[in-house]
Amino acid sequence: MTTQDAIAVGERALPQRRGIPEPRREARWLLARAWGVTETELLVHPEREIPAAVEARYREWLERRAAGEPAEHLTGSCRFLGRDFAVSPAVLVPRPETELLVEVALELPLPPTARVLDVGTGSGCIAVTLAAERPGWRIAAVDASPAALEIARTNASSHRVEIAFHEGDLATGFEPPWDLVVANLPYIPTAALEDLPIEVGFDPTDALDGGADGLDLVRRLVADLPRLLRSCGGAVLELGEGQADRVAEIAAAAGLGVARRVRDAGGCERVIALQPR
Ligand SMILES: C[S@@+](CC[C@H](N)C(=O)[O-])C[C@H]1O[C@@H](n2cnc3c(N)ncnc32)[C@H](O)[C@@H]1O
Repeated sequence: MTTQDAIAVGERALPQRRGIPEPRREARWLLARAWGVTETELLVHPEREIPAAVEARYREWLERRAAGEPAEHLTGSCRFLGRDFAVSPAVLVPRPETELLVEVALELPLPPTARVLDVGTGSGCIAVTLAAERPGWRIAAVDASPAALEIARTNASSHRVEIAFHEGDLATGFEPPWDLVVANLPYIPTAALEDLPIEVGFDPTDALDGGADGLDLVRRLVADLPRLLRSCGGAVLELGEGQADRVAEIAAAAGLGVARRVRDAGGCERVIALQPR
């Protein structure tokens, strides 16, 4: 089968829907990953014959992708702020929105040897990126899921950064003071879980479900921030649509001020930065 025929086969096999807005592009992306070549190479050599083993892998991936499995689960990797991260069904596939959280954290005027805690680290994408960008920072990361921590450790090691990983419940048991606490905790209201795109159903429920209003875990962490943070420190949290006002109120009740509220490309107030008052 030639490259152009394979892409046409893929385009027909993939249903156009919310998670797959452009089946042809998705097919080309999958074929490039299955073959280990760039998409540009596919475009430049449409007549090239595909090796049988590549075709078999590509057809299997098309079937699984059509059934809703995220592309990142097929390839086992995900790109986050220019770096590749291993992923598995044990972790949330890192989202582009979370890149904003990291960018906001990197803009904070923190000391070169800041102590940083990533709560709910999942694949480790936040902690590892911060460690790679700020080699002097001393970073710890916690997750309730041992399987997620295994992936996070793999990512730290492949990016050659030192992070102290811990299994635990939020920041319980972590001794202050911290210059920065970052967290992308589960924030989807339980009732909304059913309406999400089919791909999201492949993420671990424990990485998504934030309880009745989505803020069960955020509320608990924010209540703990005054204990955790240095007086000149800060926290950067990722939130869902329409949650920033409520989180600002929760923070105020805990004696914290809002330093920034940052919108994502879709206009949602996705990231909030808090600081002790
Ligand atoms: C939304 S995912 C975020 C993962 C990763 N930080 C990212 O941004 O891609 C939330 C993570 O919080 C973890 N988690 C859920 N409840 C937790 C708890 N009580 N204590 C620690 N981690 C928790 C989940 O296992 C999951 O890995």
